[in-house]
Amino acid sequence: MKVLVVGGTGTIGRRLVPELRGLGHEVLAAGRTSGDVHVDLSSPTSITTMYRQLGAIDAVVSVAAHGVLDEFTTLTRDSLIANMQAKLFGQVDLVLIGQRHLADGGSFTLTSGIFADQAWPTVTGGAMISGALHAFVLSAALELPRRLRINAVSPTMIGDSVEVFSEHFPGMRPVPMDTLITEYLACIEGARTGQVIRAYG
Ligand SMILES: NC(=O)c1ccc[n+]([C@@H]2O[C@H](COP(=O)([O-])OP(=O)(O)OC[C@H]3O[C@@H](n4cnc5c(N)ncnc54)[C@H](OP(=O)(O)O)[C@@H]3O)[C@@H](O)[C@H]2O)c1
Repeated sequence: MKVLVVGGTGTIGRRLVPELRGLGHEVLAAGRTSGDVHVDLSSPTSITTMYRQLGAIDAVVSVAAHGVLDEFTTLTRDSLIANMQAKLFGQVDLVLIGQRHLADGGSFTLTSGIFADQAWPTVTGGAMISGALHAFVLSAALELPRRLRINAVSPTMIGDSVEVFSEHFPGMRPVPMDTLITEYLACIEGARTGQVIRAYG
């Protein structure tokens, strides 16, 4: 398969890309400034240009762009919309635009996060992004043409990110990276569609 991994140079991507190459797939890693292909998820024009350059792709995986932390008492409509640009609307655009570019039977695998399901301070925007992604996946799976599939993987804090995130999320039990990678591979190589895979450790 020809697989595009947006965020292929990030924490998850760095583990997923070699795993996919080891399974014999042709893999292109994409990022704003890193990787084999450059794309900015916050720009629909950039996404369209990328798809036109790449030709038919069998699987698109998005492991890019975090929601930012926020402070509820100073949160505004504008700051929420700004937070949603890359992780929510960027992943939605990867699908809305990509449905015309993927090969028949191809797949989209998006990434959300545990705060769609678990309340935590300072993540209102991130929680809204992930909840919206879950709802999007359910509807998209019903209506995507040409046997295209779509799923979302919703990780909790990942074992490889504990040093970076545990200060913000004390007491949260991490999911091992190996477990998470297995779920991405099942979405890419298997027959799942319309599923939100909750990798909560
Ligand atoms: N790490 C965790 O513990 C964890 C837990 C739950 C959910 N998640 C979610 O999993 C996803 C990946 O997380 P991660 O920790 O692997 O991220 P990461 O280490 O910060 O890496 C992000 C990757 O995405 C690319 N990227 C960032 N913004 C982009 C944009 N606007 N357009 C295109 N590419 C962009 C980066 O490359 P460039 O800098 O070149 O653009 C990089 O390759 C995120 O959505 C995150 O919220 C992560």
